[in-house]
Amino acid sequence: MRHLMSPLDFNTKELDELFDLANDIEHNPDKYAHACDGKILATCFYEPSTRTRLSFESAMTRLGGKVIGFSDAASSSASKGESVSDTIRVISCYADICAMRHPKEGAPMVAAEKSLIPVINAGDGGHQHPTQTLTDLLTIRSLKGSLGGYTIGLCGDLKFGRTVHSLIGALVRYSDIRFVFISPEELRVPDYITELLKNKGIPYEEVIRLENVMPQLDLLYMTRVQKERFFNEEDYVRLKDFYILNTDKMALAKKDMLVLHPLPRVNEISVEIDDDPRAAYFRQAQYGVYVRMALILTLLELA
Ligand code: CP
Repeated sequence: MRHLMSPLDFNTKELDELFDLANDIEHNPDKYAHACDGKILATCFYEPSTRTRLSFESAMTRLGGKVIGFSDAASSSASKGESVSDTIRVISCYADICAMRHPKEGAPMVAAEKSLIPVINAGDGGHQHPTQTLTDLLTIRSLKGSLGGYTIGLCGDLKFGRTVHSLIGALVRYSDIRFVFISPEELRVPDYITELLKNKGIPYEEVIRLENVMPQLDLLYMTRVQKERFFNEEDYVRLKDFYILNTDKMALAKKDMLVLHPLPRVNEISVEIDDDPRAAYFRQAQYGVYVRMALILTLLELA
């Protein structure tokens, strides 16, 4: 039995197979409409979500399966003090596969150790968000043609942003990648990531001003400053609108640069950008369904 805790749980060959499957699902949805008949997905979300939970539910429904679950810890027996370990033992009696989001880093790993069914980490605190990374990689591969050879700007909250940490960890396995980290001083990418890049000899630079680096980027990954990760409201208010991507900044970018964002967005991308053909974030959300369909089939060994 296989779980998904980190994007690194799949090697690059396995990722290519997963993305090939996702693209086949995209172009031939009818072929997969009954692939999960009789199977049940449990979505156990101890933290809010729109995209991840609903794209998992859409994915399983489009595969012919059914979905059970909870979207709020307060409506589950966690509110009575039940442990994640006990919850997953019970969920294993009810479902064939489980997607779990939890505010505590490592909680899905604890669940996986006790689980009798595959567990997918759907986001754990500020740590990892592997299915978002699968979504991001599939989007890049589908829209740009490959996963190597890019200068990638990551902008916003690079300290607490789990999507950023997961994505960098996955991209370092591809050739000819260069990172530009764009953040205020307080939200710089953690040291363990810059150490990883140094050890692997992968070039990166850290800057504060987005407009200074726009012309060199092939991909720009925007992120939200996450209110829920701040201990101090004052710091959040000071930093929340530090970056706003608008038409003036987009005018500095390459004609084929893509803007990605895991969403939700708050103010960091002006809505005037949404109609720019380089804005790929809503297409990215659609790829999230295809890749989760492919992941469910792979972990259930139905592919
Ligand atoms: N991208 C993402 O994880 O969105 P949700 O928090 O809405 O699931």
